[in-house]
Amino acid sequence: MLDQNGEFSFDIDSAFRADPYPVYRELRAHHPLVRGPLGAWAVSRYEDCDALLRDRRMGKDLGDSNYFAQVAGTAEGEPPPFLGVGVDGWDANLFQLLDPPEHTKLRSLVGKAFTPAIIDALKNSVAATVDELLDGLPERFDVMDLLGAPLPIRVLGDMMGIPREDHEVFTRWSTEIAHILELGAEPSEDVAIACQKAVTECTDYFTDLLEKRGDQGEDDLLSQLARARDFGEGLTIRHIAAVCVLLVVPGLDTFANLVGNAAVLFARHPEVLPGLAAEPETADAVLDEILRLEPPTHASWRVAIEPLELHGHEIKKGDVVLLLLAAANRDERVFPDPEIFNPGAHSRKHLSFGRGIHYCVGDMLSRLMAKEAFNGLARRVTSLKLEDEEVAYKPGIWLRGPARLPVLAERRAR
Ligand code: HEM
Repeated sequence: MLDQNGEFSFDIDSAFRADPYPVYRELRAHHPLVRGPLGAWAVSRYEDCDALLRDRRMGKDLGDSNYFAQVAGTAEGEPPPFLGVGVDGWDANLFQLLDPPEHTKLRSLVGKAFTPAIIDALKNSVAATVDELLDGLPERFDVMDLLGAPLPIRVLGDMMGIPREDHEVFTRWSTEIAHILELGAEPSEDVAIACQKAVTECTDYFTDLLEKRGDQGEDDLLSQLARARDFGEGLTIRHIAAVCVLLVVPGLDTFANLVGNAAVLFARHPEVLPGLAAEPETADAVLDEILRLEPPTHASWRVAIEPLELHGHEIKKGDVVLLLLAAANRDERVFPDPEIFNPGAHSRKHLSFGRGIHYCVGDMLSRLMAKEAFNGLARRVTSLKLEDEEVAYKPGIWLRGPARLPVLAERRAR
């Protein structure tokens, strides 16, 4: 697993995409800190991921890193083309990629739209959307097309005032832009071009919407964001549009992956759907166990703002560290029998929504949508059978979910 330079290496396609968990086990047991296949460091144990997510010596701004120069980019340290480079508005860093104090300002603004009270108030409309998508469920369907993709864009789209007729194009943009997260994974030129085009189109789209909204004095999320121009130093409408892109787009793909990963587990554990139908209140425990065992987000990253020492190595200022959240979620030091799907047996300690100042903004919304979706499915279906036992996962190593998931459903008599 370690090559002659002492660097961790494996073939992404054959060893990783199909089943990354043996790799994670090996890393946790024998190589808690390695130089990863993308040239950055990688950590896999729970204690390290948890600590580094919260460590203020670690930032998120890749502009502060030596990553592009060392790994993914050109000799001049230019970022690779798939990062939105050259798209007007993406030159300023985006808040998921910022450090305090800039991050704090934008985060608190966006956070206002995702308070517990606002999310609670969405419960009935999310339930109605789930009913709309699942009523008249056919015997054979694709879980991603029928539920995973449409549910989050309908809910987020309504929150942001995106008209229904535009929802479909967002799903496509989301899949294409998700490649942004595949830093250093060297997507093919076609993928990079499609991603760049999607970034431009989606940023243009939000610029239009923000311009229309900005002066109407309304209080929805988009109008608040439009007024954030007054917030500060050189923030233009294009920058705010870029923030909107990174607010909506990662949420769509990650949530769709969650639904797909959940459906795979429902098919492989036939007791779960009937259990949910009998006791819908267990949906919380089921959801947390799915998030722990098969998270949609397998990794995140941090950049060392200051040097630090870990497992006897010096992590230098500017080094990038990959945090293998999905590996940490199966750490036997924290979770008993970690490879086993056992709702209720494991606590909510998983790291699938992150930790610290970059903790997922969409956590509560995702929980609400997922619980409604699982219970909605359990009310209509007694079992799901995968049409193909070998699930075709999307390309990439950061986000994990089925590319498509055709299933055969045994429907409940109504
Ligand atoms: C099940 C679905 C989801 C999962 C597993 C997930 C996971 C994550 C994780 C792990 C992070 C932290 C990244 C880090 O610390 O480096 C994060 C951040 C974030 N998530 Fe989610 N997410 C999900 C859904 C959503 C949704 C629906 C939205 C949109 C409303 C969203 C918006 C965000 C944003 C904006 C951030 C960045 C926060 C910041 O940098 O301060 N996520 N998410």
